[in-house]
Amino acid sequence: MTAPVTYSRDGDIAAICIDNPPVNAMGADVRAALVSAFEEFSADSAARIAVLYGTGRTFVAGADIREFGKTPKEPLLPDLINRIEALDKPVLCVMHGSTLGGGLELAMGAHVRLGLPGLKLGLPETSLGILPGAGGTQRLPRLAGMEAALEMIVSARHVGAEEARALGILDALADEGAEPLAAGREMAARLLSEGVALRRTCDLPAPEIMAEKLAEIRAYAVKRYPGQIAQLTAIDAAIEGAALPFHDGVKHERRLFMRLIESPQRAALIHAFFAERKVAQLPELAGIIPRPHGQIGVIGGGRMGSGIAVAALLAGLDVTLIERDAEAAAIAQAAVAQTLGESVKRGKLSKDKRAHILSESFRAAHDHAALAECDVVIEAVFEDMEIKRDVFRALDQHCRPGAVLATNTSYLEIPQIAAATSRPADVLGLHFFSPAHVMRLLEIVVPEGTAPDTVATGFALGKKLRKVSVRAGVCDGFIGNRILQVYRAAADHMVLAGASPYQVDQAVTGFGFPMGPYAVQDLAGLDIGYMTRQRKAATRDSREFVPRWGDVMHERGWYGRKTQQGYYSYGPDHPRGAPSAEVEEIIAAERAERGVTPRSFTDEEIIARYMAAMVNEAAKVVGEGIAARPLDVDVTLLHGYGFPRCRGGPMHWADTQGLESLLHQIEGFQNEDAYFWQAAPLLQELVAKGATFASLNET
Ligand code: 3HC
Ligand code: NAI
Repeated sequence: MTAPVTYSRDGDIAAICIDNPPVNAMGADVRAALVSAFEEFSADSAARIAVLYGTGRTFVAGADIREFGKTPKEPLLPDLINRIEALDKPVLCVMHGSTLGGGLELAMGAHVRLGLPGLKLGLPETSLGILPGAGGTQRLPRLAGMEAALEMIVSARHVGAEEARALGILDALADEGAEPLAAGREMAARLLSEGVALRRTCDLPAPEIMAEKLAEIRAYAVKRYPGQIAQLTAIDAAIEGAALPFHDGVKHERRLFMRLIESPQRAALIHAFFAERKVAQLPELAGIIPRPHGQIGVIGGGRMGSGIAVAALLAGLDVTLIERDAEAAAIAQAAVAQTLGESVKRGKLSKDKRAHILSESFRAAHDHAALAECDVVIEAVFEDMEIKRDVFRALDQHCRPGAVLATNTSYLEIPQIAAATSRPADVLGLHFFSPAHVMRLLEIVVPEGTAPDTVATGFALGKKLRKVSVRAGVCDGFIGNRILQVYRAAADHMVLAGASPYQVDQAVTGFGFPMGPYAVQDLAGLDIGYMTRQRKAATRDSREFVPRWGDVMHERGWYGRKTQQGYYSYGPDHPRGAPSAEVEEIIAAERAERGVTPRSFTDEEIIARYMAAMVNEAAKVVGEGIAARPLDVDVTLLHGYGFPRCRGGPMHWADTQGLESLLHQIEGFQNEDAYFWQAAPLLQELVAKGATFASLNET
């Protein structure tokens, strides 16, 4: 193994290089090696300045996140940075790539900072449930001002090189194409010839902030990150520390940092961070080379198809969209152009780039022959088996051999769709979420018989589209929608028993979901739920409870937001919806018909049942191999269903509650409905072994 840090000198300029792939994270060995390198620099009388830089794609992406929760090992990062800052010879830090967290804190302890073009820097610690714990809350305000620093810390935003220069975080910006060491040496030589002053960040005056501004930032943190403690604690660290002598401020910051390290939110958020990366690491993909995926075909330009086309175009891919006829193709063309226009308005795309995409990379047509060159074709037509099978027959005729054929179906049997072609090994599900150019989740649904390189192509395309791709097996609803159906049913059980839809929604948002199940149904359209109930009616088990109030609402033409009436009433006075007395009456009538005497529910009871249903079904999904591991369920629910990130996902949450007590609860609910509350065999097995869901994530 090569040394993670090396010291060298050329003339009077020393170079200290961090080389710890993949992202130069500063684990204990890197910190120890940095201490030695700076001692060598200090003792080297020929060295007048040191250039600190990193190899590979980034300077330093931060502290080593894998160490959090373990006993901290000396030397600690704040001490290392204080020692560098206290040196009596200047250190010039060159930053490139993603310089984040402890990486930026290290740079702020240096005396001069040079940024390379393309640099993104920031203090994203709060997104991991911690705060910048190596002087970041004390040094960044001194360089950028308190308001800008708090905004960066609370939002966890990555700041570009130009902005960092304007904020005073960078002293200089290197030219396009510059290399870290060469650019650092060049600047160091210039500084030596001009006479460099030893500017220590800790010597800058402690910044102030107006009381109203501070209140505004706190209010933003509470609203944007409900229930999370890291953002508010980070603000406290910065403000309280600024009132103390610098080094006392750093010690205060460290105390608050250690408090957050111990918090369950930190454990949950870091679980989410690693789970998001692990979903794409599957044994079946090892060594498999994806097929080409630069030219995309999309069939159907409705809500999903146009969103998928936009996602692909924004990722720089070439897209051919096929609709039913010329008129529908023109409508789809306009929808794509409009969504790209919104990206321009939001500053995500330049006007020129949009024009270029629309003239060079995108076309809408109605003849399948236009798909001849496509590498991957994604079908997003109506949710109807016969229509989809017709489309796949046409794809089989027109697509080149080796093209990957994907369906965006929500519920239909993919093997049946694949069987309409002569090449089922090339077929898989790519299940996007609406709006497809915004939502990060992509379920990659793999029927038996799909070729490994078809699957690898799905993952490679997902990566290009900047999606979080999760492998799912074939079943009704795959991972996410299957679990969703069950926890929604648990909510319906509670409403029948006496809770109101409004109370359920309130309890669920209180837990941290952005919306409750009834508000979500109003948004998606109650007609969708109606169609699903119709589709399943023929095969439904007679023991399953299906409320009739949904059908009554459907008969009245109440489809949710789009008709201004659903579980809530919408109007100019209450655009987000007001609880509907008429809905309550419909539900009360059903209770009376079924002989149910309504009872009251506490919010805790609602959450206990809602979550027990979710975790139990999730355990079935893992036990049946539909999800590869519990972490795949967590990522699905986090990115597609609004599960509160600071709780880590349902499986992580279940581990923190204790699986035994959860199973016990489920067994208790069986007295009311033994059919609905059948305990998952995997849950029983884990409880018997005294194991956790997390233990299955290592496989
Ligand atoms: N510690 C440990 N491992 C890290 C890491 C870190 N800080 N940052 C990234 N990694 C690992 C990833 O887990 C991944 O490992 P894998 O290949 O085994 O899955 C590998 O490095 C590559 O990461 P990505 O797949 O994410 O690569 P990208 O190129 O897509 O993204 C990145 C690079 C933007 C740097 C992204 O990895 C990232 O955002 N990292 C986290 C940055 C961060 O939050 N830093 C703050 C850390 S906390 C801190 O510094 C505390 C201090 O204040 C005391
Ligand atoms: P939509 O009704 O908005 O769009 C369907 C489009 O397909 C229409 O524009 C229609 O003209 C076109 N079309 C129909 N038959 C066609 C054919 N033979 N050839 C070419 N085009 C044809 O439907 P939406 O919502 O976009 O759904 C599409 C698919 O995506 C469905 O399978 C649905 O289950 C799935 N899906 C929908 C989600 C959603 O939130 N709407 C989420 C995830 C998946």
